[in-house]
Amino acid sequence: MALALRRSSQESPSSHPVPRHLAAGLLAVSSAAALALTALPFNALAVSGGGGVSESLAGKDLTGKDLRKLKLTKANLRQTNFTDANLEGVSLFGSLSESAIFRGANLRNADLESGNYEFADFTNAVLEGAFVNNAQFVKVTITGSDWTDVVLRKDVQKELCAIADGVNPTTGVSTRESLLCP
Ligand SMILES: *[C@@H]1O[C@H](CO)[C@@H](O)[C@H](O)[C@H]1NC(C)=O
Repeated sequence: MALALRRSSQESPSSHPVPRHLAAGLLAVSSAAALALTALPFNALAVSGGGGVSESLAGKDLTGKDLRKLKLTKANLRQTNFTDANLEGVSLFGSLSESAIFRGANLRNADLESGNYEFADFTNAVLEGAFVNNAQFVKVTITGSDWTDVVLRKDVQKELCAIADGVNPTTGVSTRESLLCP
């Protein structure tokens, strides 16, 4: 029943498939996410296999992809590589995004609420207007990220300000200023 995501032809054949030990622990993506996946152009992500709904994007290399049509609510995004990907307005609500890579990603107005971003890399990401209520940002990297208009709980703001540095290369906004750090 498991679906397999084929790599597109323009992607490097040397990128790694999801390791077996990870694949075994994958959670089922919601059927909405699976539907959204099938709606993607074939040169972005091709879905193969039977009618199962157990695909996960965990560990995939989605560098530079336009993913605005995806619905990633409660998706398993562990170690997924979203470098320079466009996730503007996408729901990642409740996603399992431990060690995911969002370097330079566009997360404007994205919904990161109730997600787990432990060890995630937000270097140079734009999170302007994103929703982060109840998101876990333990041990994240946020150098150069832009948090303009993100409503943060005081304790979370304090944690992020303790590690904030850099200037976002896309917006020119300083990470500390975007977080309203004292
Ligand atoms: C993620 O993708 C970027 C850009 O393609 C690449 O440079 C980097 O090595 C990748 N990171 C990992 C951990 O695979």
